[in-house]
Amino acid sequence: MTATASGMFNASTTPNLEEEDLIYFCKVIEDRAGISLKSTKRDLVRTRLRSRVTDTGFNSYGDYRNYLMTLPKDHAEWENFTNLLTTNKTDFFREPKHFEYLVQKILPEWLKNKERTFKVWSAASSTGEEAFTLAMVLARYLPKDRDFKILATDIDTDVLSTAQNSVYPISKKPEIPSEYYTPCIDLGKGDARGWFRMKPHLREKIIFKQHNLIDRTSPGNGVFDLVVCRNVLIYFSPDTIDFVQKKIFTTVKPNGYLFIGHSESFQGIPHQWSSAGPSVFRKGS
Ligand SMILES: C[S@@+](CC[C@H](N)C(=O)[O-])C[C@H]1O[C@@H](n2cnc3c(N)ncnc32)[C@H](O)[C@@H]1O
Repeated sequence: MTATASGMFNASTTPNLEEEDLIYFCKVIEDRAGISLKSTKRDLVRTRLRSRVTDTGFNSYGDYRNYLMTLPKDHAEWENFTNLLTTNKTDFFREPKHFEYLVQKILPEWLKNKERTFKVWSAASSTGEEAFTLAMVLARYLPKDRDFKILATDIDTDVLSTAQNSVYPISKKPEIPSEYYTPCIDLGKGDARGWFRMKPHLREKIIFKQHNLIDRTSPGNGVFDLVVCRNVLIYFSPDTIDFVQKKIFTTVKPNGYLFIGHSESFQGIPHQWSSAGPSVFRKGS
């Protein structure tokens, strides 16, 4: 979710979000993105859509709803609507145990095989911190004769632009362990003071691309050594989690791994993964 300053209105002039508008917005975001907001998220929906209602020239959520109802499925306004209702919080080295697991367990085992390129999918990558964390770790721990590639996807086109640009505010630098500063980041100078950019040798390893996890399309069959799909399943219903975990299963190589967020689980969902550690799953050979 990215807010635009223009069109923000004073709290006293905020139009009322009627129950029928809320129900419609919740239904549509679930149909389009799988995000299950439930009507308890009234304040979230009201705040996130507020500036969009005025930016599009409407006086009420109801008028904006009526407008959306007239639009074809591929109209550009749906992208704005979806981008506003996603939650994009992320950090570099978030849930660091996963990166320790990658270095201590997955890579030593993978290095025993003859493959040259370790392939990762960061599914729901937000602004790119997760993909760059993977890139920093892989660049540091893989030997020179091995390579890696990362596919980083998200439904939200605004966060993908930020990720593609790979420029972050200096306030995020402490999220990165200091041993990675020199090899991985360039500090901004002049007008770019207060920002840093990920180095080109990391940027060139990542492809950022739009992908909706609830689409039937898939980025490949049996191609990834590791899929990282963290902190997005919490927004999905059990049926959607089931659909997504099955889809990811087909994209992973035999013996490949899946990381999910520490607050997520497949509890109550029959699946084919073997549990390999906290929030770590493995596909059998
Ligand atoms: C909270 S962020 C998690 C980012 C990162 N994986 C992490 O753990 O730090 C959740 C991301 O999931 C994305 N998302 C939500 N629904 C999605 C869908 N149906 N397909 C792809 N991405 C989706 C959102 O746009 C958001 O950027």
